[in-house]
Order: sequence, then C-alpha cells, then structure tokens
Amino acid sequence: EKGNFRHFMQKEIFEQPTVVAQTLNSYLRQIDQSVALPQIDFDLSAIRRVTIVACGTSYYAGMVAKYWLETFARLPVDIDFASEFRYRDPVLEPGGLALFISQSGETADTLAALRHCKAAGQTVAVLVNVPTSSMAREADLRLPTHAGPEIGVASTKAFTCQLAVLAALAAHMAVRRGRFDRAEERDVVAHLAEAPAALNAALAHDADIAAMAHLIAPARDVLYLGRGPDYPLALEGALKLKEISYIHAEGYASGEMKHGPIALIDEAVPVIVLAPSGPLFEKTVSNMQEVRARGGKIVLVSDAEGIAEAGEGCMATIEMPRVHPLIAPLVYAVPVQLIAYHVAVAKGTDVDQPRNLAKSVTVE
Ligand code: M6R
Repeated sequence: EKGNFRHFMQKEIFEQPTVVAQTLNSYLRQIDQSVALPQIDFDLSAIRRVTIVACGTSYYAGMVAKYWLETFARLPVDIDFASEFRYRDPVLEPGGLALFISQSGETADTLAALRHCKAAGQTVAVLVNVPTSSMAREADLRLPTHAGPEIGVASTKAFTCQLAVLAALAAHMAVRRGRFDRAEERDVVAHLAEAPAALNAALAHDADIAAMAHLIAPARDVLYLGRGPDYPLALEGALKLKEISYIHAEGYASGEMKHGPIALIDEAVPVIVLAPSGPLFEKTVSNMQEVRARGGKIVLVSDAEGIAEAGEGCMATIEMPRVHPLIAPLVYAVPVQLIAYHVAVAKGTDVDQPRNLAKSVTVE
C-alpha cells in the first residue's frame, strides 16, 4: 500500500530512516557498542581476499564497500558486474570470500556467479533483502537487510540498507583481523547509529529538490560527479535518473572529468556534484571551477560548510546535514534518489514501472 504517497518509490525513499535503523539494530550491539554478525561456523579472520559480485544498484553498494573493507580491514577487494565476472575466468584462490549483493536474491547473473564461486571452493556470503531467495538458500553466510518489500523498480531503500550492513561488515572484519581496537569499533558503531537521524535530515530537503527539478527535466544529458566513497553515488545517481526519467546521464569520478567528459560541458548539460565537505572537498572545488569555466551549470549537493565555500555561481545548491564521512554515502543516496524521482514526476514518466525494466532480472 502506498498510503499517503503518490508512488511506491517515493514511499520507499521516505522509509529509509526506519528500515536502516531496523537493519542496523540487528548488526550493532548497543550494550557494548560492538558489531555482531549472524552466527557463522567458519573463521572470518582467515579470509585473505574478498570478491564482490553484483548488478546495478547493488553493484554500486559493493563499490562503496571496497573502500571500507580496504581502509578498515586492509583486505584486498575485487569487484565486478556479475555478467562480466562469470565469463572472465576469475582467479579464485583459497582463503577467498565471495560476497554477492542482491535485493531480490534472484538476479540470474549474480546467482550463476555464486554457483561458480561455490564450485571453486570460495566461502560464499550473500547480502540479500529477500530471506527466502535462492541466493539466501545457497550461501554459507547470510547477511540480511531488513528493508521490507521493495516494490518500485528503482532500488532505493534496499541500497541504503545494503550500505549499512556493508559498513558493519567492514568494521567487523577489521576487528577480526586485529586492525581495529575497541575504541575504533565503538567509533564506527556510533557513527552508524547516527545514520537514521541523518537520513531524516536529508529527507527534510525534499521540497527544495522538488523545486529545482524543472532545471534538470529539460536536459538531454546530465553528469554526476563524486570522489572517493561518494564516487559510486555519482554512478548510482546517473543510473536512477536514466532508469526513471529516461534522461541520458553519466557518473564520473570528479578527477576523471578532465580526461574526456569535460568536452561535453556546455550550458545545456547540468553537472550534479556530490561533495560533502572534508579532506577531498578542495579537489572537487577545483573540478567545479573547470566545469564553470566552460559554461557548465552546476548543482552542488553538500553541507552548509561546503555550500558556503563553493556554492556561489552554482545553478542550484542542495543542503545535506554535516555528517561523518563514513555515513556520507548513505546520506547522499537520498538527494540522488529524490532528484531522479522529482525529475521523473516533472516529466510525467511511469516512476514505479519504467519502460523496458523488470524488478527482478531472472534472465541472463
Ligand atoms: O535484485 P538485485 O539487487 O540483484 O538487482 C540488481 C539490479 O537489477 C537492480 O539494482 C537494478 O539496477 C535496479 N533497477 C536499480 O534501480
């Protein structure tokens, strides 16, 4: 049921503070501020390498996880689209954990990749939202998200719940590998616990985003830029916009702009910059200057500090709460989803059932 919402996608975007809190509840132990994974019967500290395999939005969650697993746990991480992974004869060595991320748990390419890894002797973990799915049944370790049923074809709440679990997993691996002491673990737990409130604060800017949607709706092409763990959010923003508004969009790592895509920039191509203030912010500001010098129109998504520093001369700014870098990818998912949603509504496309798409892709 959609309740007071016009679309399932909109309802699911607004459910995020609740379902992320629900999901975190089953991974964070408040009593001692630690991360607790479901019961497992193998030794996680013996894992030498992680291979992440997924499709679409779930793949972008995996890209964020690569940053976390490498930074926190110092584990080498490979990541690939399931459709590529399956056919490239990947090197799978003993001591490898293969992690499959899927909302539905039924995506054909991801499931086939899982079976391949299992046959090759990898430990198989799945991060799924549907507990009765094929992937859940076939895994050695199940990491459920508690997003509840996701009806809109565009994945929203499943994504933020996946990120919440992945951050908890990365912290847990860091502890098991002796990379995190108790204080560091507690720190991550405290920052993750702030995510639901931060998501609420991000959602409070819904009306601002609706009001600027008409600036994007007429565009034929849109670019999204992000850096570090927010780079996958740029890819996710572009996917969301393509999927439901049918506007061609590309996500780029901010620093890659000058290696090609900058040739596209003119006043007809809006550039959406995802840039929480922090250590990488200055770099992104210089990328914004490169865009502006070529007549590009920028929408800056940042916190008050970032907007105060770099908002001048932008076509629009969208203010996010100031958050710890760990939870920025979760928080910045909200404006990315709402931009796509409001642009699609402005264009009058079918938000919940976009053309040519199915909720679950069970053909290869
Ligand atoms: O159920 P899954 O997470 O395995 O689905 C993967 C993709 O098909 C899915 O994320 C797709 O890209 C969405 N429509 C994105 O919004």
